[in-house]
Amino acid sequence: MAPSFHPRDRQLSVAFVCLGNICRSPMAEAVFRHKVKELGYSYYFKTIDSFGTTRWHTGESPDARTVQTCRKNGVPIEHQAQEISLKDFDRFDYILAMDETNLRDLRQMQPIYSDSIVELFGKWRSNSQFNKVVGDPYYGGISGFEYNFQQLGHFSEEFLLREVGTLD
Ligand code: 4NP
Repeated sequence: MAPSFHPRDRQLSVAFVCLGNICRSPMAEAVFRHKVKELGYSYYFKTIDSFGTTRWHTGESPDARTVQTCRKNGVPIEHQAQEISLKDFDRFDYILAMDETNLRDLRQMQPIYSDSIVELFGKWRSNSQFNKVVGDPYYGGISGFEYNFQQLGHFSEEFLLREVGTLD
């Protein structure tokens, strides 16, 4: 994938999107932000946020299993669920979907004038042992959340290496 920085303003804005914005995408946001800090890349980011494609859980805190998984792994998490809206396609350089349904919904929604890069976050994986799709863990046990956490750490590292590592 070609490096996609914006020459005028190298600070990037990244949004993570799932269905409800209580399980996967707030975890993605928290894991990504943690990696950005660890790597000393904070300078390169303006906004890191997450959204749902629905309003089902608007205003709610992340699912207890997402919080538990992040805490266990030393990743701070704090978020209130919000639904993505058209203006977000103006604000974010990258809008990263967890699964194919999220991706399809986002692409249907994207205004013609928006040049946001709308992709599956798993597109950045380099290790095919990880599933590209961050599967919906809502109706399963904690192991689904733990697997999501590992995937999101890998995708975050690869994204940062390939999209930001090239900015120096
Ligand atoms: P998320 O998980 O999209 O990762 O936040 C879900 C949260 C809620 C529901 C489904 C998935 N739900 O059916 O309410």
